[in-house]
Amino acid sequence: MATPVLVLNGPNLNLLGKREPTIYGGKSLAEIEFDCLDAGSRLGLSVDFRQSNHEGILVDWIQEAPAGGVVLNPGAYGHTSIALHDAIRAAGVPVIEVHLSNIFARESFRHQSTISPVAVGVICGLGPLGYLLALEALAARAREPAGNTKR
Ligand code: DQA
Repeated sequence: MATPVLVLNGPNLNLLGKREPTIYGGKSLAEIEFDCLDAGSRLGLSVDFRQSNHEGILVDWIQEAPAGGVVLNPGAYGHTSIALHDAIRAAGVPVIEVHLSNIFARESFRHQSTISPVAVGVICGLGPLGYLLALEALAARAREPAGNTKR
């Protein structure tokens, strides 16, 4: 049976495709969702893909996250949100942080992440491919839970 996983997207990511394409690329969020669902079916994952501009809604979703884990692009909340950090700690499921852009090659306020210390891994700067690599990592963890060293 397919392992349920969540792919969560934070604020302004609904604008992908139109929003600063030189930084975030030309793909819309719907196209990224399509690719994630497609990858999920190859990897034995059932992917639930969501986006919200609201921090509390993202917290609610993390609290309900399935054991298979979460791919999280927190958007700007990744630089500020202690609430998301706490929700991830409490959820106890693997969370992989993804950013389309290389946050370390950008403004200094993007160099901090409240998510990274509680994520099992971080992928940034690889565009939409980052989501697919994160799903591959969750699938590998689901196959070999005994090999997991964290959470
Ligand atoms: C982002 C990077 C964040 O700094 C920014 O606020 C975003 C998108 C990314 O995917 O590159 O909204 O998370």
